[in-house]
Amino acid sequence: MVRKSGEIVAKVIGAGKEYKAGDTVITALKASSVDLISGELTLIIGPSGSGKTTLLSLLGCVIYPSFGEVWIGGKKVNELNEKSLAQIRLEKIGFVFQKFNLIAPLTALENVMMPLILQGVSDKEARVKATLALEKVGMGDRMKNLSNDLSGGQQQRVAIARALVTDPDLMLCDEPTASLDIKSVGIVMNELKLLATQGKAVAVVTHDTRLTPFADRIIYVIDGAISDKPAEEETTKR
Ligand SMILES: Nc1ncnc2c1ncn2[C@@H]1O[C@H](COP(=O)(O)OP(=O)(O)OP(=O)(O)O)[C@@H](O)[C@H]1O
Ligand SMILES: [Mg+2]
Repeated sequence: MVRKSGEIVAKVIGAGKEYKAGDTVITALKASSVDLISGELTLIIGPSGSGKTTLLSLLGCVIYPSFGEVWIGGKKVNELNEKSLAQIRLEKIGFVFQKFNLIAPLTALENVMMPLILQGVSDKEARVKATLALEKVGMGDRMKNLSNDLSGGQQQRVAIARALVTDPDLMLCDEPTASLDIKSVGIVMNELKLLATQGKAVAVVTHDTRLTPFADRIIYVIDGAISDKPAEEETTKR
């Protein structure tokens, strides 16, 4: 499907997240504002514990903000109930989790078919689409394997296939290349870049400096806050 570029697909406005642990409050992300735009691949970079996964989870409707607003495709979603939020995730968002979250007793193919089956797509059509998605990430020859029997990098690629199989407007990937060798990084990032040029908004959380050439835009997250500049020590390292 050809989509227009330059549209705001996801937006957080002054949104952040706090967790209570006993008497203390942990601020995972301070009030932040970010737009993700169709046609763009955005990298989200920052040190461990800085709030990257929290930001991605807000954009992906995986968690509710403690304050601020989250908008998906022109709809304010932070006040919707769990069920409506799950529907928005299923229809509009492909999320690659940092820990993959594949379903262990299922094969690679069945894992990738799952979101389509949940959408009500027939088994036959889901099988065809899932096969194509797995082939795109170089996993066409391991489709019948149980996900537990795959290597970390292979599981990561299955998780990416599962995220892109529904053709979502928004692709959010948390460290999608952490377990990949340089060849697989190229395959995965070229595919994500292609999805962006086809009109999706793509955001990738990473520590991996191999990914910067693929970025249209870089957002830095430092100590729970968003910045358009890297952290001090990263600047002085260069
Ligand atoms: N459910 C939670 N309960 C309590 N604290 C949390 C929770 N989730 C995240 N945090 C805290 O919020 C901060 C930001 O976490 P987050 O997972 O967003 O970091 P990150 O930048 O993704 O780190 P990494 O690169 O290690 O994955 C951390 O200090 C973390 O311990
Ligand atoms: Mg993280």
